[in-house]
Amino acid sequence: MRKRVTIVGSGNVGATTAHWIASKELADVVLIDIIEGVPQGKGLDLLEAMPIEKRDSYITGTNDYKDTANSDVVVITAGIPRKPGMSRDDLLNTNYGIMKAVVGEVVKYSPGCILIIVSNPLDAMAQAAYKLSKFPRERVVGMAGVLDSARFRAFIADELKVSVENVTAFVLGGHGDTMVPLPRYSTVAGIPITELMDTAAVDRLVQRTRDGGAEIVKYLKTGSAYYAPSAAVTEMVEAILKDKKKILPCAAYLQGEYGINGLYVGVPVKLGAKGIEQIIEIKLTAEEKAGLDKSAAAVKELVGVIGV
Ligand code: LAC
Repeated sequence: MRKRVTIVGSGNVGATTAHWIASKELADVVLIDIIEGVPQGKGLDLLEAMPIEKRDSYITGTNDYKDTANSDVVVITAGIPRKPGMSRDDLLNTNYGIMKAVVGEVVKYSPGCILIIVSNPLDAMAQAAYKLSKFPRERVVGMAGVLDSARFRAFIADELKVSVENVTAFVLGGHGDTMVPLPRYSTVAGIPITELMDTAAVDRLVQRTRDGGAEIVKYLKTGSAYYAPSAAVTEMVEAILKDKKKILPCAAYLQGEYGINGLYVGVPVKLGAKGIEQIIEIKLTAEEKAGLDKSAAAVKELVGVIGV
């Protein structure tokens, strides 16, 4: 039987995620949104592209959670995106309201699914979904580190004029202004970037990574990034559906790891069929640990506001 992925929210991130998933033939896709007609229209449009793409993913759109039943993975993108001048944190109360409306419905029809949270502010929304779903922490994972490290990788490849395939990078912490890109663990063909560029260049790329989302918002004006975010979600979906046991930076509920307790923060995890199969603890320098703690404190403040 084919795998089934539901995407909640048929805006730019949701629809583009459906596009990537179908173009890789990873699963059948159900698009759901409260807006009537949009998931149906985008779903049908994408379905009609499948003969050209030679892919047998079946895509449907709906406004009824009944049609999402028995999904293997559910990606929650629903929520408002930020506009220029807004931080992700400004979306907190609105998107928490949406999360409350959505998670119960998802869980009712797909009690065994793995939830991937994409709505912002990411870490707080992942924590909200974890609490609302009552799922084990293995089955609620937040997308952010894959996106943030993809941005870092793109900037490194561009700076050094090397293939993106040669570049790996790690970004830890919350998906916000305090995220912690780790140059020491970021490499080109296995060589740490700290050996390949001077400190000023590393610092410049680190800052651009932190501001990566805002850079796009500033250009688009009416919304936020969606190609890279949805490609990042798709890598996570693929790791889960194919049980790849892939190590990726994701937001996970920490219970003592990295000295952090009861909080969603971005850390390296092993993603496979069971969801988060392992949280990988890497040694951090005092400065990196301080950066992670600061980032965790920012997440803690947000979850405190909505009381999750
Ligand atoms: C970004 C938004 C989606 O980083 O959080 O682009």
